Amino acid sequence: KGDPRLQAISDAIRVIPHFPKPGIMFQDITTLLLNHKVFKDTVDIFVDRYKDMDISVVAGIEARGFMFGPSIALAIGAKFVPLRKPGKLPGDVISEAYELEYGKDCLEMHIDAVQRGERAVVIDDLVATGGTLSAAIKLLESMEAEVVECACVIGLPEAKGRQSRLNGKPLYILVEPR
Ligand code: PRP
Repeated sequence: KGDPRLQAISDAIRVIPHFPKPGIMFQDITTLLLNHKVFKDTVDIFVDRYKDMDISVVAGIEARGFMFGPSIALAIGAKFVPLRKPGKLPGDVISEAYELEYGKDCLEMHIDAVQRGERAVVIDDLVATGGTLSAAIKLLESMEAEVVECACVIGLPEAKGRQSRLNGKPLYILVEPR
């Protein structure tokens, strides 16, 4: 990848060892958000990619997908749909459970948030196993929206082989962990 912005994006992500548990190298994107140029470059790369793809839905995954998704949605003329942890959305929802490394979690979406046939991209900060993104895809597809691509700022190397888990949907990542 020859885009010089990617190195600055990678450099702006702070790595915190042993958070939240021993052995985890936490990829902290809050330091990227502090740097206006790098934050804007990150959003712009996604905007340039999706602006002419007839996307009407940007779905962001709680919590850090909320930090990038709305800016992208506004810039490409799409709506923003929050995919939330259980019990947070007040309206009628559909739920999708997914496996974590240890245990289970669940994402929810308001059923009136998307219409059949809408074209969507899913945004998050990071993909590891792909379990979270795959739950997001299932939510959108169960409302008969079309998931065009999933996009993350950071992709663990293991995520590359996991496209099968994303129902064959393309995965677009900017950088690998440092
Ligand atoms: C992190 C990250 C993704 C997910 C990726 O969220 O922000 O949403 O894990 O992991 P996966 O590809 O193995 O599914 P986390 O579980 O820390 O939740 P949070 O954003 O609410 O803190």
